[in-house]
Amino acid sequence: MKDIYILGVETSCDETSISIVKNGSIEIATSTLTQIDTHKDFGGVVPEIASRMHSENITMVLSDLLSKTDLKIEDMDAVAVTYAPGLLGSLLVGLEFAKTLSLVYNKPLIKVNHIAGHIYSNNLNSKMKFPLLALIVSGGHTELVLMKGDYDFEVIGATLDDAVGEAYDKVAKALNLPYPGGPVIEEYAMKGQDTIDLPKVMNNDDLNFSFSGLKSQVINIVNNYKQKNKELNKYDLALSFQKTAIEQLIRKTNLAINKTKINNLIIAGGVSANKHLREEMEKLAKKLNINLSIPKMKYCTDNATMIAAAAYPLYLKKDFSKYDINAKSVERLF
Ligand code: KG4
Ligand code: ZN
Repeated sequence: MKDIYILGVETSCDETSISIVKNGSIEIATSTLTQIDTHKDFGGVVPEIASRMHSENITMVLSDLLSKTDLKIEDMDAVAVTYAPGLLGSLLVGLEFAKTLSLVYNKPLIKVNHIAGHIYSNNLNSKMKFPLLALIVSGGHTELVLMKGDYDFEVIGATLDDAVGEAYDKVAKALNLPYPGGPVIEEYAMKGQDTIDLPKVMNNDDLNFSFSGLKSQVINIVNNYKQKNKELNKYDLALSFQKTAIEQLIRKTNLAINKTKINNLIIAGGVSANKHLREEMEKLAKKLNINLSIPKMKYCTDNATMIAAAAYPLYLKKDFSKYDINAKSVERLF
């Protein structure tokens, strides 16, 4: 079969990214511009600034990408783009850009859900084997999903309140640490000691998660120290929070594997960049003697490579989009 090249475009949050992927699994070239330094000063992504910056930069990002490869847009088999979920204004910039490329170069357009992108970043390791269990851990998601094939999702466990990434971000805010919270809490946790006891949450037999109680516990501790004018060891608190949050992820994943007897496990989403989670997942896979796929670090944060990879099974099904598709800030994949 002939090789299939897909150009992916991702602008759902604060990364402007364009990538070329061959056969849904081989990255040819990627160009990504992050806006993190701009948003850092505001303690989070400012939607209006994000969409303006995507608009300013997206053409340069494409030009930079094309300078990294001999391939041309004419060589592409399709143009894929994140259409949901994310910041509406940001998504629209990428979507209009992709529609225009698709029309001008006469290439099919493929709309991709951002979370599907995170899941399919695992195909950039080696092709995912079904059935598999996916642990989705991002800023907006914490779910255990059973996949029996491409784009065949069954949620078997989900957070009852906050997503784990959201809890990281809120804990960082409470500790006066910069956005995004995940990496900075991880860094602090590495320097901390296990001196603060936080209660285990969701210590039951079902597959759902909860992180808001844990987040509130941490915020209460911060406030108590403030009231008493005592100095809080942020490193120790970061460690305790991280340890407790990740223990819950591992415990529920272990339960899910025991219940489903599935022996392929993948993780996906921004929190999968966390080293402690990656190490604990490796230990779990070893203990249960199952196959584990963890996205490479560079594919954990938002990127267009995963979007082009996720578009490949849709390309094979000829699941192409019309030009009237719109961006959606919220769109459930499952
Ligand atoms: O998957 P993602 O890009 O978000 C959504 O698409 O919703 O992931 C962003 C989330 C943020 O909450 C961020 O704090 C968290 O992933 N994150 C991390 C780490 N890097 C990013 N959380 C824990 N440890 C990290 N190293
Ligand atoms: Zn993401």
